[in-house]
Amino acid sequence: MIVAARPDANTHTAPVPRDRPRRLRRSEAIRRLVRETRLDPEMFVAPIFVRPGTGVRDPIASLPGHDRVSADEAVRDAERLAELGVGGVILFGLPASKDEEGSGAWIAEGIVQQALRRLRDRDLPLALIADTCLCEYTSHGHCGPLTGDGRVANDAALELLARTAVAQAAAGADVVAPSAMMDGQVAAIRDGLDQAGFTETAIMAYAAKAASAFYGPFREAADSTPAFGDRRGYQMDPANGRESRREVALDVAEGADIILIKPAMPQLDLVAAARERYDLPIAAYQVSGEFAMLVAAAERGWLDGRRAMLESVTGIVRAGAGIVITYAAADLASWLRDEAR
Ligand code: PBG
Repeated sequence: MIVAARPDANTHTAPVPRDRPRRLRRSEAIRRLVRETRLDPEMFVAPIFVRPGTGVRDPIASLPGHDRVSADEAVRDAERLAELGVGGVILFGLPASKDEEGSGAWIAEGIVQQALRRLRDRDLPLALIADTCLCEYTSHGHCGPLTGDGRVANDAALELLARTAVAQAAAGADVVAPSAMMDGQVAAIRDGLDQAGFTETAIMAYAAKAASAFYGPFREAADSTPAFGDRRGYQMDPANGRESRREVALDVAEGADIILIKPAMPQLDLVAAARERYDLPIAAYQVSGEFAMLVAAAERGWLDGRRAMLESVTGIVRAGAGIVITYAAADLASWLRDEAR
């Protein structure tokens, strides 16, 4: 619309704008044409929590729509995800029993290994990723074995993490994803995999992983809340951006194939910094608390859950993530499919 100058010369008239970004917002067709960030189900990785048994689906209250599933049911979930075009799954395990060292993480009959073998046999078009950590398997809930004074022993953890990665690779994992935040874990795992002949198994390193309040629902789901203390002695202080970038640099130097930033939304600056600095694929983990708060607000009618979820994940991708681990993977994939129709 043209703003006509009023005849009264004393009246101030605003200049007529020449730049009108609104031209490109006029219709959905134009908006779609100029859209900079597009989501594709292939970018999404869905977490799956595996537990012992057969035919078991045990709902996770704080992650609506998610269950702790036995290996056979994990295959069914994976089939559905593959059918929706989702890119991959990341497996977490709830072992039948726990011990001081977390042996359930690396034994051949470990719960994640059982599920991986079944998924490998099924040969679905999904990347099979295994979270490589000990906290779900240790009786004390920390991410490595303890020293006498109750701290996590870094170098002793390295050997156990490498053993876990080898067991996961042997069971069929395409990618192992170390999340324990032990110093040197990527190098130790790369060496362990290579020595065992798994030179083709990739490492997605949880490089900048903060000691975040947003992991609450996950710890309920995975029964991995530390029995004492917290994880601030090994996970990053969320206040530290430069230190996070140093962690990323170390993991790249140690041989990471994919860099993962976690959590996603509170650390979009770190996603963008990693994208800017490295040519490796960058992944971001929209963690359990990020998902749960959106779902809870939507349940109360406080926001439109679908639009808020799409906007959040779009923001993560716009910041620079090419891979997003998200509990909304199946929902997002089916919404995107609806929109394409
Ligand atoms: C294991 C691990 C955790 C998450 C991913 N891997 C828990 C933790 O570090 O306490 C959290 C994922 C989520 O909250 O969705 N160390």
